[in-house]
Amino acid sequence: MRVTSIISSKGGVGKTTTTANLGGLLADAGYRVLLIDFDPQPTLSSYYPLAHDAPGGIYELIALNITEPEQIISSTTIEGLDLITSNDGQGQLPQLLHGAPDGRIRLHHLLGQLPDYDVILIDTQGARSIMLEAAILAADHALSPITIDALSAREFIRGTVGLLDDLEPLTRYTALDLPRISLMLNRLDHTRSSKSVSDFLLDFYDDPDGRVTVMDNNLKNLTAFRMASAIGQPIHRFEPRKPYRDRVAPAGADQIIDVASELNPAWAPALTGLQATLQAQGGRHEH
Ligand SMILES: Nc1ncnc2c1ncn2[C@@H]1O[C@H](COP(=O)(O)OP(=O)(O)OP(=O)(O)O)[C@@H](O)[C@H]1O
Ligand SMILES: [Mg+2]
Repeated sequence: MRVTSIISSKGGVGKTTTTANLGGLLADAGYRVLLIDFDPQPTLSSYYPLAHDAPGGIYELIALNITEPEQIISSTTIEGLDLITSNDGQGQLPQLLHGAPDGRIRLHHLLGQLPDYDVILIDTQGARSIMLEAAILAADHALSPITIDALSAREFIRGTVGLLDDLEPLTRYTALDLPRISLMLNRLDHTRSSKSVSDFLLDFYDDPDGRVTVMDNNLKNLTAFRMASAIGQPIHRFEPRKPYRDRVAPAGADQIIDVASELNPAWAPALTGLQATLQAQGGRHEH
């Protein structure tokens, strides 16, 4: 699973938070990771401080087909974590892709010309667009965060899964497969309604051969996610262990490690190693 797109046709469900934290985690676990900010609103681009700011970004890649790393790939201050920034300030890319015969499959082709990363994570816009379609067609796997309100669950079923269904005809004319979707509950709390929505989704997507798998692991609603993002740190560094013993929710580090290990079991050994190191270190507990 090299290319994972983080997708949702709904905004504000935690796509950027999940992308940034998975990227930071996998880089600290020793993988070479590339984040691609494919959202015209460049939230992921400024999530982590940059050690090197490349002159170009997503615009040069998609519009000009420039793939030279020194032109388009920035590096963050986290070792092993690179980034292609979103720099389409004028919003020209969607129109350009609409007008190009290879529009929807261009990103897929361009990724093959980039340096060899272990993991590529693509953050997308929370709305149906040709950019989102291109990110889906570029992915081996899709991860969809969903917040726990019934509206959002229905929107997921109608919007996100419907989008993939609509792309199905295209796969007949290209060598591309549509990715499977891992559905991850985000900002979970302990209320009854969150349990009923997660039960509903588990029941709805019961089919093991279907497009969607509801993940066992999830991210809880923690202020630590917002605090870590405010200081440009991944959650596993910010909250390596539980801040106080009797808090019910596991440490932020354990939550993201469990999600990543379920997403790709091949990552699990490296992540278990990192987890042991985090637990041995004195964690920072200033919050
Ligand atoms: N598990 C969590 N616990 C607490 N806050 C969270 C959690 N996940 C996300 N948030 C917060 O929710 C808000 C929206 O998250 P985020 O920006 O990641 O969503 P998004 O899907 O990328 O939104 P958009 O569609 O606008 O790009 C942010 O303020 C973020 O800090
Ligand atoms: Mg976002």
